[in-house]
Amino acid sequence: MRIAISTGGGDAPGLNAVIRAAVLSAINRGWDVLGIKRGYAGLLGEDECIPLTKESVRGIAHLGGTILRSTNRGNPFHYPRPQPDGTITTEDRSDELMENARRLGIDALISIGGDGSLEIAKKLCDKGMRIVGVPKTIDNDVSGTVTTFGFDTAVNTALEAIDKLHTTAESHDRVMIMEVMGRDAGFIALHSGVAGTADVILIPEIPYDLGKVCEKIMARHRAGRQFSIVVVAEGAFPRGGRSSTMGDSLPGEARRVGGVADVIAREIQTITGKETRSLVLGHLQRGGMPTGYDRLLATRFGGAAVRAIADEKWGHMVALQTPHIVTVPIEEALRETKRVDPTHDVVITARAVGISFGD
Ligand code: F6P
Repeated sequence: MRIAISTGGGDAPGLNAVIRAAVLSAINRGWDVLGIKRGYAGLLGEDECIPLTKESVRGIAHLGGTILRSTNRGNPFHYPRPQPDGTITTEDRSDELMENARRLGIDALISIGGDGSLEIAKKLCDKGMRIVGVPKTIDNDVSGTVTTFGFDTAVNTALEAIDKLHTTAESHDRVMIMEVMGRDAGFIALHSGVAGTADVILIPEIPYDLGKVCEKIMARHRAGRQFSIVVVAEGAFPRGGRSSTMGDSLPGEARRVGGVADVIAREIQTITGKETRSLVLGHLQRGGMPTGYDRLLATRFGGAAVRAIADEKWGHMVALQTPHIVTVPIEEALRETKRVDPTHDVVITARAVGISFGD
């Protein structure tokens, strides 16, 4: 039995722990393991496939990033091809990929990725590749699993930043707006904001009214609380509006969401007259050592992926359905993007302790 492993899409703390657990579990069954470098590029002659041994995964569980590297522009069905005039078009290279996998004797593939990579995995599965998925994203927006590894680490990174912002905001009587990642889901903002006792949390699932945000800030001001902390998800948008975009995306890349913190900081300063500063936490949320929770979850996912291969669960992904790791059809998980439920107890409790969602 020869299996391969690939990591696609944005990296997330815990990827290396999945790789390590899968490699060791497979080798201990007497299987061979290949690592496909940079998403699927290693199967398209644009990077390499490397043997993964016990030696190659030694001492990596605590490291962020991925030893296999990753890309968010490696969809084999829409693969970028640079043209002589400098433009980039895309082409379907999935047949070539299937042929190269056959040539390398790959019997099954563990595809570790978010919704984009899982969608590719499903399409390759439909073409006959034997695939098991492992859901990964700091955004926590994959359905079918209670959580994804990387999310807890991102929340803790955001939380540390909120703690630090509190002291400087209070010293200067400022309003501080901190933008966190999450694309169209507000989980990172909600969890870090509630744990970090933010005053306002803005998420895409609850469109905001800036007037209400300012009311909350001024109510605090009148009560003698001169500073306020606003945590805003990058995908948040005003009622009747749409989310902000930051910079141009390259061909094959999703729209770059972000920039909302700067926009609302300027408006809040104009409306309230209070000195307001913004910051974008950005890719810091994807870096660093995975937390203990993420390392454990990633290790469980890696081990479960190998068991799923042994059980021939093709087209399934491993998932956490507390307290168990189960498998669910990738198709089912992709049916809808998981988003914050505005009636969830975390939101209700946040409101009960006085946090405003700007609605
Ligand atoms: O999906 C993970 C994520 O970090 C999002 O939260 C964010 O919008 C996006 O990826 C950023 O992608 P990139 O690294 O391509 O800028």
